[in-house]
Parts: sequence; C-alpha cells; structure tokens
Amino acid sequence: EERGAAHLEEGSGLVLLGDSGVGKSCIVLRFVRGQFDPTSKVTVGASFLSQTLALEDSTTVKFEIWDTAGQERYAALAPLYYRGAGAAIVVYDITSPESFNKAQYWVKELQKHGSPDMIMALVGNKADLHDNRCVSSQDAKEYSDSNSMFFIETSAKTADNINQLFEEIAKRLP
Ligand code: GTP
Ligand code: MG
Repeated sequence: EERGAAHLEEGSGLVLLGDSGVGKSCIVLRFVRGQFDPTSKVTVGASFLSQTLALEDSTTVKFEIWDTAGQERYAALAPLYYRGAGAAIVVYDITSPESFNKAQYWVKELQKHGSPDMIMALVGNKADLHDNRCVSSQDAKEYSDSNSMFFIETSAKTADNINQLFEEIAKRLP
C-alpha cells in the first residue's frame, strides 16, 4: 500500500491580546518553555510560538499561538492575528485598572469583528502581586460571565494557573 504525503497536524489558532506590560509574552513563555523573564522586552508587531498540550484523556492539542504587541501603535495590526483564530486570551494586570478597561475594549472588538464561535478567556495576570490588587476577582468574573467568557487569574511569575488556562481552552475547542 502506497503511503500518502506526510500528515500535517492541524493546529488551533490562539491569539493573546491586552495592554502593553500585562504579561502576555511571559504567560506564553511560561507555558511553552516553563520559564519566567523578569526583564521581558516589549513585543514588536507580534510573535509566533506553538506548543502541544497533552490532555487527561490522552488526546493532544497543538496550539499555534500569536502573542500580539500591546503598545497602542500596534493596535491596528490586531485583526491580522485574531481573524481566523479559534480562541482568544484577553489579558489584564490585576494591579492595573487601566489594563482592565483595555481588556474590555478588546472583548468588544472581538465581539464585533472576531469569529462568532471564538472561545474567549479573560485572564487577570500578576496574581502574585495580590497585595497591590486593584481589580477585584468578583468584578472580573461578573464581566466575563456576562460576555460568555471564562475567567481565570494567573501568575506567569509563579506559574500559578498557567497550564490550567490552556487546559480550559483546550477543553472548550470543538
Ligand atoms: P507587550 O509585549 O508590550 O504587549 O507586553 P506584554 O503583555 O507581553 O508584557 P510582558 O510579558 O513583556 O511583561 C511585562 C512585565 O511584567 C515584565 O517586566 C514581566 O517580568 C512582568 N510580569 C509578567 N507576568 C508577571 C507576573 O505574573 N507577575 C509579576 N510580578 N510580573 C510579571
Ligand atoms: Mg509581549
């Protein structure tokens, strides 16, 4: 029997959006390499990484991750990355109310211009800085519930809830 062309595993497109400095690149670095970089540099344009996640039921999901740049000057590029993505992670920093406002802006933009069946996660990062918390978990949870998103607080620094975030997305993929 003749063998066909090499089978190409189809990945799941995932985009991260959120204000500059909230920790998007650190979340991805923690998930993909298990590392934390306290001197992480601002992302220019966007960066691409992929990572395969093994699930409890022994299936695997290959994430194709677009880590976008949060600085305002790159905002117009975002549609290039979220269009066609199956899932979006909208990140804010629990110590920054401005970043929570910006997260709501991204949620509205995804609702207007993203795919209607996109899986959306709201992520409050830097949970290790709880002594400086300015965004309550309850407010964020209420907001996410009313926008059909799931909500989780993470710390890229301590690794708290980082794998859980990607596992929850994987569970919701069609
Ligand atoms: P842009 O690329 O400009 O959009 O920013 P970003 O969202 O990718 O931020 P980045 O991941 O580069 O992190 C910004 C800063 O926050 C860095 O100094 C990180 O070390 C720090 N940081 C990221 N995640 C955490 C976290 O969970 N806890 C703490 N304490 N610091 C964090
Ligand atoms: Mg970045």
